[in-house]
Amino acid sequence: MFLYILGLVAVWYVYRWYKESKRVPNKGDKYVYITGCDSGFGNSLAKHLDKLGFCVIAGCYTENGETALKKVSSERLTTISLDVSKSESVKKVAAFIKTLVGEKGLWAVVNNAGVATPSGPIEWLTIDDYKSMLAVNLNGVIDVTLSVLPLIKKARGRVVNVASVFGRISPFGGPYCVSKYGVESFNDSLRLNMAPFGVKVLCIEPGFFKTSVTDTVILKKHFRSLWDRLPQDLKDDYGYTFLETGLEQLDERFKQFRDSDLRKVVHCMEHAIASVHPRYRYSPGWDAKFLWLPMSYMPTWLSDGFFLRYSPKPKASVI
Ligand SMILES: NC(=O)c1ccc[n+]([C@@H]2O[C@H](COP(=O)([O-])OP(=O)(O)OC[C@H]3O[C@@H](n4cnc5c(N)ncnc54)[C@H](OP(=O)(O)O)[C@@H]3O)[C@@H](O)[C@H]2O)c1
Repeated sequence: MFLYILGLVAVWYVYRWYKESKRVPNKGDKYVYITGCDSGFGNSLAKHLDKLGFCVIAGCYTENGETALKKVSSERLTTISLDVSKSESVKKVAAFIKTLVGEKGLWAVVNNAGVATPSGPIEWLTIDDYKSMLAVNLNGVIDVTLSVLPLIKKARGRVVNVASVFGRISPFGGPYCVSKYGVESFNDSLRLNMAPFGVKVLCIEPGFFKTSVTDTVILKKHFRSLWDRLPQDLKDDYGYTFLETGLEQLDERFKQFRDSDLRKVVHCMEHAIASVHPRYRYSPGWDAKFLWLPMSYMPTWLSDGFFLRYSPKPKASVI
C-alpha cells in the first residue's frame, strides 16, 4: 500500500514536471515590461529574459541603472526611466509601450519595484512613512498594472506581481507587510477578474534574499533614525536596550536567512512569464517554504508566541 502511494506521488511529480517544462513559442515577438530593473531581482530578470530572446522593456529608477543595464544587454532590450510612485511617469511609460508593441500587445508586466524602509515598531512611525512605502509597493503595482492592462488583454498575456512571504505572515511592524498583503489581495482579485479574458495573473512570494531590500546597513541606519526622532516618553517605554538588541538581532537574523542565490527567484519569475502552464504562486527560498509559509497556517496563539519569544522586549513590557 505504501509503495502504491509512493508510486502515485512519483507519477504525479513527473507529470507536473513535464507539463510545467513546456515554454511559450516565439519569444522574439513577446514584449515583457519589468519595473525596478536598476538592481536585485529586476535587474537579473531583465538580463536573463534578454538572453532567452524576449523583448524586454526595463523600467529603471535611475539614469545610472539604465546605463549599466544597456551596457550588458542586447539591442532588443529597451530601458526607460520610471518612478512607479508617480502617475505621470507611469502614464508616460505606458504610452511609449503602446507605440512600441503595436497590435501585438504586451505579453507580460512584472511588478517588481519595491522598497523596505522605513521599517520599525508601528508606534515609531507616522502616516507619511506608511504613505511613502505604499506609494511604491502597492499603489505603484496597481497604477502600473492598470496602465498596461488593455495591452496585456490584447496579447492574452500575464501580470506577474512580486509580493513577499511577508504578504502571508506579518512578523514585524511597519508598512512593508501591509503593502505586501495588499499586493497579494490585488493579485488574487485581478486573477479572478482577468481569467475570462485569458490573462494569467501570477504571484511571486520570495523569502529573504541578498539585495538592497535586505541590506542590514541601510535597514539599521533607518531603524536608528526612527529611534532618534521619538519623543522621550516613547523612548522611556522601549528603553535603549530595545534599540541595541533590535539592531543586533537584525544583523544576526538576516545573516541566518539571506540567500545570495538570486537565480532561485529569477527562475520562478521566468517560469511565470514563459511557461505554457505557470503556477499561480511561487515561494522561492528555503525559509519561505519551510518556515514562513508553514507558520502562516499555524494558529495565531502559536505564531504570536513564537515571534514574541524571539523579539526584543520593550522596557515597559508586561509579558
Ligand atoms: N530581497 C528580498 O529578500 C525580497 C523578499 C521578498 C520580496 N522582495 C521584493 O522583491 C522586489 C525587488 O526587490 P529586490 O530584493 O530585488 O531589491 P532591490 O535591489 O532594492 O530592487 C528594487 C528595485 O526597485 C527600484 N525602485 C525603488 N523605488 C522605485 C520607484 N519609486 N519607482 C521605480 N523603481 C523603484 C530600486 O531602484 P534603486 O536601486 O535605484 O533604489 C531597485 O532597482 C521588491 O518588490 C521587494 O519588496 C524582496
